[in-house]
Amino acid sequence: MPGAIVIDHPLVQHKLTIMRDKSTSTQGFRRLLREISLLLCYEVTRDLPLTNITIETPLAEMQAPTLAGKKLVFASILRAGNGLLEGMLDLVPSARVAHIGLYRDPETLTPVEYYFKAPEDLSERMVIVVDPMLATANSAIAAIEKLQQRGANNVRFVCLLAAPEGIARFKNAHPEVSIYTAAIDERLNDHGYIVPGLGDAGDRMYGTK
Ligand code: PRP
Ligand code: URA
Repeated sequence: MPGAIVIDHPLVQHKLTIMRDKSTSTQGFRRLLREISLLLCYEVTRDLPLTNITIETPLAEMQAPTLAGKKLVFASILRAGNGLLEGMLDLVPSARVAHIGLYRDPETLTPVEYYFKAPEDLSERMVIVVDPMLATANSAIAAIEKLQQRGANNVRFVCLLAAPEGIARFKNAHPEVSIYTAAIDERLNDHGYIVPGLGDAGDRMYGTK
């Protein structure tokens, strides 16, 4: 399906299969999400610009590459986004972090915002929005709109699973934002859940229902 970059690395696919399995424990689910987030982060940052700096090794002076420009911002859509955030911060510990508190109203499937906190200078940074699930895309669209209102103009979106319907709606609303996902599933069910999916990501991460 055009519109999303699928990260089909064998380790990602293997870990995702275990996460989908309903017999996987809360503890196992959280650990796997953290592990996968390292691999997704590796892919979404693959084309970050580099610049050379002069350093001295124990043997010689050299020009060596280092990340150019301002630090990244990871924007986590609560709650489940935090499962991806932690691993990403392991790889890019200097990144800034935005938190966007949203939950889906189970009847209307529209997002309800309860929290927003982001660094001031979003317009000068690449913002990587993280949330394991892109279902109707209502939550992702609302989160990105909010970030754009605060100045973000260089945004990427990373998830674990996406529904074709969600990708289409997302691309309609934000054609300028690239989507990175580990898999594109079949469809949404009548309750807006991704099928076959993995269930409710937040509940599986935190053992709630
Ligand atoms: C889940 C998920 C996304 C959203 C995706 O969160 O983490 O944020 O649903 O659905 P959508 O694409 O149809 O908007 P949920 O609202 O269940 O909140 P939680 O993370 O606090 O459990
Ligand atoms: N949110 C989830 O956590 N899972 C889905 O399948 C859809 C939305």
